[in-house]
Amino acid sequence: MKRKALVTGGAGFIGSHLTRRLLKKGWDVLVVDNLTTGFKSNVPEDVEFLEADVSNEKILKELPENGVDVVFHLAAQTSGEISFDNPAYDLKTNCLSTILLLSWCAEKNIDRFIYASSMSIYGDVETLPVKENVFPKPKSFYGIGKMASENYLRLYESYGVNSTALRYFNVYGPGQNMENLRQGMVSIYMAYVSNNEPVIVKGSKDRFRDLIYIDDIISATLAVIDKPVTFGESYNVATGKKTHVHDLINNILEAFTYDPDAYPINYVEGTPGDQFGIYADISKMEKHIGWRPKTENKEGIKKMANWVKNKDEQRLSAE
Ligand SMILES: NC(=O)c1ccc[n+]([C@@H]2O[C@H](COP(=O)([O-])OP(=O)(O)OC[C@H]3O[C@@H](n4cnc5c(N)ncnc54)[C@H](O)[C@@H]3O)[C@@H](O)[C@H]2O)c1
Repeated sequence: MKRKALVTGGAGFIGSHLTRRLLKKGWDVLVVDNLTTGFKSNVPEDVEFLEADVSNEKILKELPENGVDVVFHLAAQTSGEISFDNPAYDLKTNCLSTILLLSWCAEKNIDRFIYASSMSIYGDVETLPVKENVFPKPKSFYGIGKMASENYLRLYESYGVNSTALRYFNVYGPGQNMENLRQGMVSIYMAYVSNNEPVIVKGSKDRFRDLIYIDDIISATLAVIDKPVTFGESYNVATGKKTHVHDLINNILEAFTYDPDAYPINYVEGTPGDQFGIYADISKMEKHIGWRPKTENKEGIKKMANWVKNKDEQRLSAE
């Protein structure tokens, strides 16, 4: 029998990739998204789509009475930097949404909930690579909201909702929003380069991140669905490798065939709540379910750059 997924945030970058992969695997999918940062055009035509705010209690009444097997909760305000603009909004959209959806699952006997958490919960960590069991010290309202949501997941275990929190690190790849210059380290730098503009870097070039390609995020997300060992657990979803900001920019410049020594880069003040450097220990995912990422940063950056170039060519030929 066909299984059905509810994907919140399915009109966004990661959610739309997930939706397409679930469809390919033969699932029915219902996408719920309020299109704040997502796009209706990201949602495949044959997918049921509900334009709604998942932090609004009324939407629970619009969700199907039965038939949903798994909830993937990805809808969120997704930027640490932006979370400082309006912390109350961040709390509502990122935490209240989680409570409402979990309570809906408990009421409808939906026993599987997969949550898009974030490496932002960790803050600045003393021992790297970071393991899931360190005491989290989030530095942004966004990180605090993700951590709080993970705690709500744990609480709802006792109501029969088996959940898994996936702590995504920095995700990049085709489909990322290239217009938003406040979210997504790779997409921001690549947007400057593809527009042939100086790269503006907020913060030090020596900062480092664990950059994970979208296909690996999706394979990890799908890999946990039917694994009881992952119920009630949180996992780092990352590559286990650190990439410094200056190496990332070099990889992007190379993919666009620019000379990294000649391209203008402006370093400006960092953003509030930004972590200096973090990368993940991914042995828990490996041990529990045998998952490992496949894409090296240079390769992923090339694929994303090709997507950006084709997109730009299509746009120019249409103008
Ligand atoms: N991209 C990353 O590097 C990264 C890293 C860690 C965690 N995450 C998490 O993964 C998830 C997906 O992120 P993304 O990169 O695809 O971002 P995105 O902005 O492309 O997608 C988020 C989607 O959620 C929708 N949305 C926001 N608030 C909503 C609400 N109240 N009701 C309904 N829909 C709402 C938006 O319209 C958008 O389509 C988020 O939970 C994010 O916090 C992303």
